[in-house]
Amino acid sequence: MTADIIDGKAFAARLKENVAQQVAHLKEQHNLTPGLAVVIVGEDPASQIYVRNKNKSTREAGMNSFEHRLPAETTQEELLALVDTLNNDPAVHGILVQLPLPGHIEENAVIDAISPAKDVDGFHVINAGLLATGGNAMIPCTPLGCLLMLKDRLGDLSGLEAVVIGRSNIVGKPMAQLLLKENCTVTVAHSRTRDLPQVIGRADIVVAAVGRPEMIQGEWIKEGATVIDVGINRLSSPDGKNRLVGDVEFEGARTRAGAITPVPGGVGPMTIACLLKNTVTAACRQHGVTEPEV
Ligand code: GUN
Repeated sequence: MTADIIDGKAFAARLKENVAQQVAHLKEQHNLTPGLAVVIVGEDPASQIYVRNKNKSTREAGMNSFEHRLPAETTQEELLALVDTLNNDPAVHGILVQLPLPGHIEENAVIDAISPAKDVDGFHVINAGLLATGGNAMIPCTPLGCLLMLKDRLGDLSGLEAVVIGRSNIVGKPMAQLLLKENCTVTVAHSRTRDLPQVIGRADIVVAAVGRPEMIQGEWIKEGATVIDVGINRLSSPDGKNRLVGDVEFEGARTRAGAITPVPGGVGPMTIACLLKNTVTAACRQHGVTEPEV
């Protein structure tokens, strides 16, 4: 079997186009322009690139983008004061504070200072709780993107065996909650899991989010399974060029899986598209407007 490649880039482009149409509708029909504030503290090069892409995509979708670049020595109090200002700014419907933050700032204190209604990352403890209890949560962007790709590929997920590898608050745990909501039988595997090959070998759906290059061997994958690889790991090659690989050993896995996301070009592009989608959702909820179906 040779797996179909799930083209996250093309899927994300369609989703962004859909969001742009929703934004146009909100502007015309409701005089509402969704706005996203992105805050970055310090000079982390990877974060700089992510933030630039987020702001560019926000503008391309027709939304307002508010960029706040703060120096690395910004105090926690100063950052919390900015979050408070953004919470109270009616033009701002979504707030994203780029992580990681410098070591002297407590990340959870900042995340939990963001108004849950504007928490487009879905990291606030209220949103985590709402997701776990079946409420109207803001859903973290990466797991949301994974779920959209899974549903596009498989349709109804009900009754399928799903294994999520990784238990982070950002990906693993919310992914497990989302799959549970879709009536999957969900296993969350992690670094202490015994006999990972056996656990993965029974999964119809594998979501790999451990951040360890090619840790999941292709031969562990069940024939025909759908594999979503969240990992983005940079490996240096002997020729000095860097290479991006996922958490799954791609070449081996593609001979067994029914479908697999590549790295790059799989989950990555979906995360920003879902951030835009969440910003529209947040704006609509704050204004009591139904999300336009376009
Ligand atoms: N850093 C890396 N990914 C993310 C993300 O999805 N949201 C935030 N806030 N920071 C990040």
